[in-house]
Amino acid sequence: MEGFNIEYSEWKPKEQKLREALCTLGNGYFATRGAAEENKNNEFNYPGTYLAGGYNRAKTEVSGKMVENEDFVNFPNWLCMNFRPEEGEWLNLEKVKVLDYRQVLEMKKGVLVREFRVEDDQGRRTKIRSRRIVSMRDKHLVGIEWFFTPENWSGRTEFRSALDGTVINDNVERYRDLESQHLNALESRKINDNSILLLVETKQSKIRMAQAARTTFYFNDEPLEPVIETNEKEGAIGQVFRLEVKEGENYTIEKIAAIYTSKDRAITEPVLEVIKDIERHGRFVELLVRHEEAMQRYWHRADIVLKDGDKKQQLLRLHIFHVMQTVSFNTIGLDVGVPSRGLHGEAYRGHIFWDELYIFPFLNLRFPEITRSLLMYRYERLDEARYAAKEAGYRGAMFPWQSGSNGREESQVVHLNPKSGNWIPDDTHLQRHVNCAIAFNIWNYFLASDDQQFLSGMGAEIFLSIALFWASKVEFNKERDRYEIHGVVGPDEYHTSYPDSDEQGLKNNAYTNVMVAWLMNKAVEILELIEKTRKEELLKALEIDKDEINFWDKISREMYIPFIEDDIISQFEGYEELKEFPWEEYREKYDDIQRLDRVLESEGDSPNNYKANKQADVLMLFYLFSKDEVKTIFERLGYDFSEDLIEKNIDYYRSRTSHGSTLSRFVFSWILAKYDKKESWQNFETLLTSDFEDIQGGTTPEGIHLGAMAGSLNLIQRCYSGLEICDDALWINPDLPENIKEVSMRIKYRKHWIFVTITHEKLKIAFEEGWSKKVNIGVAGELYEFEKGEVREFSLGVKSSEEAEKE
Ligand code: BGC
Repeated sequence: MEGFNIEYSEWKPKEQKLREALCTLGNGYFATRGAAEENKNNEFNYPGTYLAGGYNRAKTEVSGKMVENEDFVNFPNWLCMNFRPEEGEWLNLEKVKVLDYRQVLEMKKGVLVREFRVEDDQGRRTKIRSRRIVSMRDKHLVGIEWFFTPENWSGRTEFRSALDGTVINDNVERYRDLESQHLNALESRKINDNSILLLVETKQSKIRMAQAARTTFYFNDEPLEPVIETNEKEGAIGQVFRLEVKEGENYTIEKIAAIYTSKDRAITEPVLEVIKDIERHGRFVELLVRHEEAMQRYWHRADIVLKDGDKKQQLLRLHIFHVMQTVSFNTIGLDVGVPSRGLHGEAYRGHIFWDELYIFPFLNLRFPEITRSLLMYRYERLDEARYAAKEAGYRGAMFPWQSGSNGREESQVVHLNPKSGNWIPDDTHLQRHVNCAIAFNIWNYFLASDDQQFLSGMGAEIFLSIALFWASKVEFNKERDRYEIHGVVGPDEYHTSYPDSDEQGLKNNAYTNVMVAWLMNKAVEILELIEKTRKEELLKALEIDKDEINFWDKISREMYIPFIEDDIISQFEGYEELKEFPWEEYREKYDDIQRLDRVLESEGDSPNNYKANKQADVLMLFYLFSKDEVKTIFERLGYDFSEDLIEKNIDYYRSRTSHGSTLSRFVFSWILAKYDKKESWQNFETLLTSDFEDIQGGTTPEGIHLGAMAGSLNLIQRCYSGLEICDDALWINPDLPENIKEVSMRIKYRKHWIFVTITHEKLKIAFEEGWSKKVNIGVAGELYEFEKGEVREFSLGVKSSEEAEKE
């Protein structure tokens, strides 16, 4: 299965936590890390299970101050399985001789395989092949199957199967001083001979989770009857199964578990449901077949095929896989957003940031239903955002930078610099630009899906409420005769205030100002687009009058953009006065300066003092908008837009960016695609390996970077394919990098499925099926009407070797 497997062929304990994050299995409802069944939380093993939307708040005293954090709860570990020959030791790969080890993430099927042979201190050799699934089809069910072979010994053997609710949140070292106990044990008991039940509840948010597990033994497919002993302690329950095993024989052990929570729909209460489920469902293979069918359906829609036969295909699929593990059809209707680190670890506490801006484009063109559901997460929190705006003295709705359960601001007040051990005030919550991202996402979801009902209903209400907020936030500068925005932080989190200033935030972050200008214009346009009655309703409900609408229009024409010189946009007002950063000196001094904020803070300095960025900020504009769109926004604002403005800004900022966020590589790869193909490709390659190789040195074990993963997919699907969704049609103008020979993918454009194959010479478009019989697709300046079932090929012209060389 080329490009569908991630395989590790050696036992390397130190790499295990990274592998676990990358081998996480999930179904959009919950996920479990690819930890070993036989071990608890230890130096090399962290069995985390996370529920979409599974948060709990807890207070801790930090430097004499009480802080409250909302954490992404690590729920009970359902994996626990182990064995020992009677009077031997329970298996721990750290304590035996590992003869062979293989761990394979079979992405096509969504199966995690672990296969190993071990020898204990008495020379007993044992082989175990384990397969594990988190069912995509039956979202409450999980299963593990062990093939167990005592290779050179026989005798009485004990097997253990358990549910462990004594787990704590311990995945992120930096958070270890903070409260980590989130679960109360409520109930643990035997259901029947081979089935057990565990019920826990989160301490503050009172989410109840029930787990039930049934463990069965087979020899030659015939059930075995081991002697069973059940042990309970507070918060955990386990069963020991005693069996006589014979040298060279193969035994099968199956553990099927069900998981329900008090947040689920269509249930009476979780305990009854888990018991019902494990009684109703059959053997592991039956679950597996259903799960594999569901996985096939996802791959059919989501796969992006590269005809290069190398590792890129595999990594691209790893990224597709993890998007699907985090959000899937099972997510639809759940009251959840998409956490920046997936359901894969505890970093950033499962919070929802602006990263959707990077994730939705992939979903929009395949699973728009999922985007819609994720946008509803914001809609449900509109009242909280309204309250936040009011409290801060504004109108409309102000969504938080970090969002969790009920939509209040969840950003940390202080954060720990692991390099210095200091707790530092955190002002990143001033990233009000998240509100522009939400609005931008609504508009782009609409463009891709044509979901007028959503736009008129919830979409417009969120959009206009955000517009109201910005209109009350802007300040008029008489001298400049322009509107300004003060006290904010842009996407580059290294700059949160001016050097030696006590005031939080910055003036006129160019990215935010331009986005607000765009948003104001779009808000007026949306009012004209939605049904008249709905427009009237919304204007009345949100108290928007004619003057307000005129004001929005004025802002969209008179917003201030700071410039340093000619065509160089200033990241924020005063950026040019900051010191240049001695990049070379620091590159020599430290192995890694990606997290420059931590390096500088540990030296008593701050990135606030330098022209040194964490990530793309001004340059975000050239990712979000095409050249023509930026030109239109600038010209509407009365600023000149010269052809080479983009290139000049890329040049200025690329030498001043440390890429301390994985999102940055993606944006650079995108914007450089036209200007510096070589560097663009290098960024793309780094992006592809950023989680797989954990290039930030330790962040991936705390959760994958979903924005960067989805970003890499977006590069292929939109940037290299030149795909643009316009009002009249879907435009495809490919510009494949030299290193990619062929790409094919299936995309859903306004309820029409289109299969696209791109090479350097040809573009093949097949209109497979759709809501209407015809669809408009534009190629190289010409618009074509495609009939259902029609396939057309376009010649893209072969590049001469001279032209290729220039690139
Ligand atoms: C980045 C933010 C991002 C967050 C979550 C931070 O490191 O600077 O832009 O939203 O991570 O992924």
